[in-house]
Amino acid sequence: MMKTLLGGMSPRQFLEDYWQKKPLLVRQAVPGFTGVVSRDELFDLACDEDVESRYVRYLPDSPGSEWVLERGPQTRGRLRGKRQPWTVLVQGLNLWVPAGDALLHQFDFIPQARLDDLMVSYAVDGGGVGPHFDNYDVFLLQGIGKRRWQIADQEDRTLVEDAPLRILKHFTPAHDWILEPGDLLYLPPHWAHNGTAIGECTTYSIGFRSPTAQELGAEFLGWMQERICLDGLYADPDLELQDNSAEIGPKMIDQIERMLAGITWSRKEVAAFVGEYLTEPKSHIFFDPPEKPLSRKRFDAALKKHGFALDARSLLLWNETGFYLNGEPLDFDPSDREALAALAHHRKVAAGTPFSDTFVDLLHQWHEDGFGHPATDHG
Ligand code: SIN
Ligand code: CO
Repeated sequence: MMKTLLGGMSPRQFLEDYWQKKPLLVRQAVPGFTGVVSRDELFDLACDEDVESRYVRYLPDSPGSEWVLERGPQTRGRLRGKRQPWTVLVQGLNLWVPAGDALLHQFDFIPQARLDDLMVSYAVDGGGVGPHFDNYDVFLLQGIGKRRWQIADQEDRTLVEDAPLRILKHFTPAHDWILEPGDLLYLPPHWAHNGTAIGECTTYSIGFRSPTAQELGAEFLGWMQERICLDGLYADPDLELQDNSAEIGPKMIDQIERMLAGITWSRKEVAAFVGEYLTEPKSHIFFDPPEKPLSRKRFDAALKKHGFALDARSLLLWNETGFYLNGEPLDFDPSDREALAALAHHRKVAAGTPFSDTFVDLLHQWHEDGFGHPATDHG
């Protein structure tokens, strides 16, 4: 992490005073920053069907339908509009551009398990997505040009009805700043904000994930469903004659309640679930295994010479129960634990690092699966 990123503040202090508590504006957090993609590259991504993008236009003169939202892939024509202010937002930039992945991981003073993705927006003068609030934390890093950010910690979260995107009905800004290239604004969840382009500009959003209890519960129950193994069969040798045969009698409910009480779980299962859940690639993510994978021997040589980097799509996390890669628990030699933890933390290993045969076997397997690569392209 660069020293300037938090304006000289230590990550520890940032966590103590700002994270999930209050906004922070850092001038020149990334000195000389002008973004990680050019406008043309950004437009190419927006027009790509594999990339998640949104186009938003504001038509102040059409009451009731001021906001227009078009999901990608975008068309080039749409991105040439000059008459009304518009913006285009590209999600998951870290998946497509190595420099985007590197930028995202500048922020891993926050656990990787909380990181979501890097989004970029391009807007023409006056463009933006309107005043709104998000349910997660965000760092907004200004790329090219200037953007005016107005923010507020308001209680009123009423949204404009029938708008295609979430727009606050009432917005009373408490702070008003103009961000220039390299300036950074951190916002905790639920802070209302409105970013308006002053001239042409790009903004990079480092976004986080905060699953809801409902989402965790539903996912966990789905995960548990594949693992529960209950014994026994409903039985009633003491069945008594009922007055009404349609009644599901209390004894039947008692017995089923006892049977279902066999569905239990331990912390270990919660931890294993969390490892798999948080490393599960999003549904539109596919890996590209190499057409001609290197042999084990040539891979070893490439590893020594170039090192190894996880693919930008790969998620490798660990906890008290083990390591998890892309939604699966990892099988590994216990003596490789430290090397694995270091790789998970840095997402790469330097050329010339000495590794055990079992560790090289593991990396070679990942190379074959497209989960990681000898680090030639990644520096
Ligand atoms: C933008 O970049 O225009 C939108 C970012 C946000 O408000 O979360
Ligand atoms: Co927002």
